[in-house]
Amino acid sequence: MAVRYLSLFSGIEAATVAWQPLGWEAVAFSEIEPFPCAVLAHHYPSIPNLGDINKITEDDIKRLGAIDVVVFGSPCQDLSLAGKREGFKNGETRSGLFYKAVQIIEWCRKHSGTRFALWENVVGAFYSNQGRDFSEVIRAFTGCQYSVPKEGWQNSGIAYSAEQSLLEWRTLDAKYFGVPQQRRRVFALADFGDWTCRSSILFQQANNEFYLSTYEKDEKEATFECRESSRKGLSRSYAGCITSHTEKDLITVTNNQVIVCDENGFPKEDGEYLRAFSVVEKERMFGFPDNYTRIPYRNKPAKNCVIHARLKAIGNSIAVPQLKWIGQQMQQAFLI
Ligand SMILES: C[S@@+](CC[C@H](N)C(=O)[O-])C[C@H]1O[C@@H](n2cnc3c(N)ncnc32)[C@H](O)[C@@H]1O
Repeated sequence: MAVRYLSLFSGIEAATVAWQPLGWEAVAFSEIEPFPCAVLAHHYPSIPNLGDINKITEDDIKRLGAIDVVVFGSPCQDLSLAGKREGFKNGETRSGLFYKAVQIIEWCRKHSGTRFALWENVVGAFYSNQGRDFSEVIRAFTGCQYSVPKEGWQNSGIAYSAEQSLLEWRTLDAKYFGVPQQRRRVFALADFGDWTCRSSILFQQANNEFYLSTYEKDEKEATFECRESSRKGLSRSYAGCITSHTEKDLITVTNNQVIVCDENGFPKEDGEYLRAFSVVEKERMFGFPDNYTRIPYRNKPAKNCVIHARLKAIGNSIAVPQLKWIGQQMQQAFLI
């Protein structure tokens, strides 16, 4: 039977791009921003978008039927190291919408026997409110009140309560999953089922397939390959970038820009800045199909789709291969 999942704070649905090929079915989305909503309606017209998470009721959840997994990357502005770091603030901030998602997960467990909840967020989640926000994440999923460790939260860990559930968390970097960008994010996976007979999910070694994937799309400029830094001898700061050879030069696409490099992959001293990313390059950096976000929007045809809205929505998303890898591990757990 297909795994059925509910996706909250859906954005442009990295989860669905990752999990549809596994044969999983989305039961509903929840998204409010106009452009991501249009992307969802364009690609998944038969999957309901429940809109504002604050308005989702217990009855709505009951009506959705069986839900095996809830996935949610809640807003991160108040946890981000770059922001004011106000944290969850008892649900008063945007990041505090986390609590609303937790309530929905409780309804899902009550009415549909939900097994897993997967949360994705910025690493700032370990630090906001002196680490107390992450204690709240653990409490929400296991019922256990852990105080913040003296040395702070580590990049990975497990918490469990005998009666309730298990929470695994791990910081994963997208660059180790075959996409050309450095992007460290916390993934926390709660298992409300019988986790005693399965191996851990987030602590498995990433599959080699993800290290070696190659894009061979014939773009105007060049052929892009994504590679692990060590395989190409690139410096650490350029790890995981997209490189391409034109007749004259090696071009490197870093996290911010496209620049000309020497044959070893280091920026040339007179390193010419060529241009900003194209939207397709950004889609590839997250593992989306080319032009996934190029949709008809606001009465304009797809070819005129607004670039800044596409870039923003992609930038807020999750690297698809990371979710695919986690999905594959969950799939194994369902089979036990
Ligand atoms: C960090 S992004 C998640 C992106 C998503 N995981 C993806 O694959 O693209 C958070 C999303 O939550 C949405 N959001 C914010 N407030 C919301 C609300 N009250 N109800 C539903 N979605 C909301 C934002 O518009 C944004 O797209």
